[in-house]
Amino acid sequence: MYSLRSTPWDQPPTDEDLARTVRQGIPGSAMPGFQGYLSPGAIQAVVGHLRTLTERWPAGSTPPPPLAPDPPSDLPAMTGQGQALFATNCAACHGEGGRGDGAAADFLVNGRGSPIRPLDLGRDALRGGEQPADIFRAISYGLEGRSMPPFAHLSEPERWALVAYVQSLRPRRVPYSVGVDPRPSREAR
Ligand code: HEC
Repeated sequence: MYSLRSTPWDQPPTDEDLARTVRQGIPGSAMPGFQGYLSPGAIQAVVGHLRTLTERWPAGSTPPPPLAPDPPSDLPAMTGQGQALFATNCAACHGEGGRGDGAAADFLVNGRGSPIRPLDLGRDALRGGEQPADIFRAISYGLEGRSMPPFAHLSEPERWALVAYVQSLRPRRVPYSVGVDPRPSREAR
């Protein structure tokens, strides 16, 4: 199951999706990023190997073009609209403020049937990355097998507004130094 990718659930991930995961790893999980350790050529070789491991990859098929849209320049100005869309589309699971405490949060299961909770969007690492395009991809195509549904039926501007709102919830970035937890404490927020 490939939850981090730029293609719909019933299609295999693109080479760039696989390469991105190898480069960046999965923040907040045990999967490290290999950027800086593996050359771009070595990463492509790993991707080529991964492709041979999945039967879902139809032989000889051309993957769809990757979804790599540029965010609108006035992204932060869309935060209010995003908050309203979030209340309608996302709060059932993520909770009104995105803390992962929506009414349905206790009843979600992953692809193996084990319980899974929505993240606390104000605190937890995003598995697919922090950039606006990463969040746009997660919202557009969901995370297969992880109970995060796709919202490709919303218009692109609506999805960008949701990105703006999610970004407004993200922890403030403080320069990391050894021994200091870079995340603000719950009390501080
Ligand atoms: C059916 C419940 C459900 C709904 C509805 C839902 N989500 Fe999620 N979402 C989840 C779960 C569960 C996860 C955590 C998956 C995991 O642990 O990998 C998640 C993860 C995410 C992530 C993190 C992606 C990443 O890279 O790690 C974002 C961002 C997100 N959701 C945004 C949204 C937005 C915006 C909406 C509304 C448009 C929404 N979600 C609707 C259940 C839901």
